[in-house]
Amino acid sequence: MKDTNQTSSTRFILLGLTDIPYLQAIYVSIFLVIYIITLWGNSLLIIVVRINEQLQTPMYLLLSNLSILDICLSSTISPRIMRNTLSRDRSVSVLDCALQMFFNLAVGGTECLILAVMAYDRYAAICQPLHYNTAMNKTFCICVVTGSWTLSFISAFIHVFFTFQLPYCRSHNVNHFFCEMPSFFRLSCRDTWANELANFITASIIAMCSFLLILISYVHIISTILKIHSSEGRQKSFSTCTSHLTVVSLFYGTILFIYMIPYSETSIIGKTVSIINSAVITMLNPIIYSIRNKDVKGTIRKQIKKKIFFEKS
Ligand SMILES: *[C@@H]1O[C@H](CO)[C@@H](O)[C@H](O)[C@H]1NC(C)=O
Repeated sequence: MKDTNQTSSTRFILLGLTDIPYLQAIYVSIFLVIYIITLWGNSLLIIVVRINEQLQTPMYLLLSNLSILDICLSSTISPRIMRNTLSRDRSVSVLDCALQMFFNLAVGGTECLILAVMAYDRYAAICQPLHYNTAMNKTFCICVVTGSWTLSFISAFIHVFFTFQLPYCRSHNVNHFFCEMPSFFRLSCRDTWANELANFITASIIAMCSFLLILISYVHIISTILKIHSSEGRQKSFSTCTSHLTVVSLFYGTILFIYMIPYSETSIIGKTVSIINSAVITMLNPIIYSIRNKDVKGTIRKQIKKKIFFEKS
């Protein structure tokens, strides 16, 4: 009864991935490899965009913003999950938990919005090619990017603040691998409908508005592409969109699953999906974008050659 009002002095207990020692080693190795590839792939993409003058276009600058977000999103959960799985002590302080929840929400929200801006960029490039430079000018890009970061961080702050105002007197055992907001609502002894409603509304506004913007952009893009008569021209136009479309489907597929299906976080599938969203998809983004992209691959190849020949001569 004593800790009813003293949430700040208590700790929460998270789940570990498993208790079986050899499985712990396997899981942690998998997470470590995924995390290293994420850091490495995304950093490489940021460097490639930085050093290649030709890639200083809105599309690639947004992509490099996405890479920064991927690194942050993955860092909000992977290190903690690895530590918790290996350590006996799976408790986490309220502050750590709040920070993890805050950064996970804020970075995830920004990623939603940036993906929408990227869709708009493709729309402007394909449907309004003559006005592209005015539509995606530097000031506009900087404004929407800063706006996305600010909006998500403020909304995440408000949510996390009110989540930690709840009294946690029922239990401190979080039924999840990391501090994810929906799992916390089940721990409170107060009725959490107001928090859940606010959560649902914000998730709807941020995720749904971005999603709609992406959908509308692609309806226009596809109808423009279908009007192109040569199949070669069609393919060329669409090839710049396929990477983005793949990334969007993966990211939104998992987000909609986590935040729109009530109680999804209590099932093992729900928990796995939320880990995939933050840990695995962030690794795939730079791979998806680089594999089919001649400019990115070209820059890497050129740099490697330069290094080798420079050192020889
Ligand atoms: C993020 O996007 C903005 C706007 O396009 C750009 O000015 C900035 O350089 C980008 N950041 C990185 C690291 O590429």
